Amino acid sequence: GDLSETGQLSVIFGSDMKRVVRCSKFRHVFGQPVKNDQCYDDIRVSRVTWDSALCTVNPKFVAIIVEASGGGAFLVLPLHKSGRIDKAYPTVCGHKGPVLDIEWCPHNDQVIASGSEDCTVMVWLIPENGLVTPMAEPVGVLEGHSKRVGIVAWHPTAHNVLLSAGCDNQIIIWNVGTCEAMITLEDMHPDIIYSACWNRNGSLIVTSCKDKAVRVIDPRKETIIAEKEKAHEGARPMRAIFLADGNVLTTGFSRMSERQLALWNPSNMEEAITVHEMDTSNGVLLPFYDADTNVVYLCGKGDSSIRYFEITDECPYVHYLNTFGSKEPQRGMGYMPKRGLDVNKCEIARFYKLHERKCEPIVMTVPRKSDLFQDDLYPDTAGPEPALEAEEWFDGKNGDPILISLKNGYVPVKNREFKVVKKNILDSKVTKNSENSSPKSEAKLEEILKEIKSLKDLVSSQEKRIITLEEQMSKIAI
Ligand SMILES: *[C@@H]1O[C@H](CO)[C@@H](O)[C@H](O)[C@H]1NC(C)=O
Repeated sequence: GDLSETGQLSVIFGSDMKRVVRCSKFRHVFGQPVKNDQCYDDIRVSRVTWDSALCTVNPKFVAIIVEASGGGAFLVLPLHKSGRIDKAYPTVCGHKGPVLDIEWCPHNDQVIASGSEDCTVMVWLIPENGLVTPMAEPVGVLEGHSKRVGIVAWHPTAHNVLLSAGCDNQIIIWNVGTCEAMITLEDMHPDIIYSACWNRNGSLIVTSCKDKAVRVIDPRKETIIAEKEKAHEGARPMRAIFLADGNVLTTGFSRMSERQLALWNPSNMEEAITVHEMDTSNGVLLPFYDADTNVVYLCGKGDSSIRYFEITDECPYVHYLNTFGSKEPQRGMGYMPKRGLDVNKCEIARFYKLHERKCEPIVMTVPRKSDLFQDDLYPDTAGPEPALEAEEWFDGKNGDPILISLKNGYVPVKNREFKVVKKNILDSKVTKNSENSSPKSEAKLEEILKEIKSLKDLVSSQEKRIITLEEQMSKIAI
């Protein structure tokens, strides 16, 4: 009815208590797996013991980390390439150790980054129609970590800026366009970093760490601006993400191993805004967040369900919406960016659930009778155009995401040409030499000019002397 469309509160009076029921347009969101022939079958999903999502999706491709003998690999499948995937299907296979995390660049649907046990980050340019032969040559290799790299995360609004976090407890922020490590955050994390996430405009990052602390970091000032020790008291891994309003949402475990969801205000991290207890289970809860609608989807690793919540600024702030349940546990999960959804079907989220040997898309839909575009479900969303260049961001500028309307569906833009321009060491030496020697050579030049002048003076005075002597000689000769 009307209430559910406006998201107002309605108060229901019981016999002797007041109960507040919040009506939300997302309350009736339901999940549905696609038909079998639209799944990707016969995939050997990676068995690596690292709690990453193992899958990343964009409007063109789904990429999945797979088992590989001797080295590491991931599959990149055009979305329409469902069905049985041949054993010989080419993979991206340039890493020398297992791949731990992958993420599509938000600004170019053919560029993907990978972090690996081989201590490197690699950046790959996928051909427009996917791979026809194995790809072992990345467009960029980012070397700087001394241990395996478990997290890669692209900057949301600056072109070619990538964050990586390694088991060396360091975060490196790269300019992918030049393959340079621009910022290294050392000595901030005393233990393994479990998650690292940018805020909406990429001015800050939030991390969760094995030491149980959540830290809000200004990466360009290289300072921790807020910190909560023991955000969750349990020993199992935590996750932390930024919400659109700047608050932080965390998942973790209580001392009694109950799974928790908590909300924090970075300007006062002492007390959580709210802590929500869920169940007792040991799978890490991976949060996927829709900044446009403020809906958070929690996918537990090893669970067979997706739970979703709406976050508002009304108490109790975190509002449970519903659970999508199934029989098979999930090994990993991909989450489609909003611009990849089918707005004509009122699809508000799509997941790519990894089973042991297949990937199954799950569509989340808001039931609506009308066939018209539902603007209330689709506020303008982040498009692929970056707001800034890498250099501008490293210089201190910020930019909010450039929004696009989904009213007529998403029309892919032509990708900007992706190029890595490595700084030529010889070039920089040549420039350095001329630059370095320029003040010196100026002084030297002046010295030489002085010397020439004094020589000239000497020559001309000698000349005068010779003339005088010649005159005297001629007089004598006469
Ligand atoms: C970026 O986000 C931060 C933190 O939310 C905010 O303080 C800042 O004003 C934003 N800057 C721009 C240019 O949007």
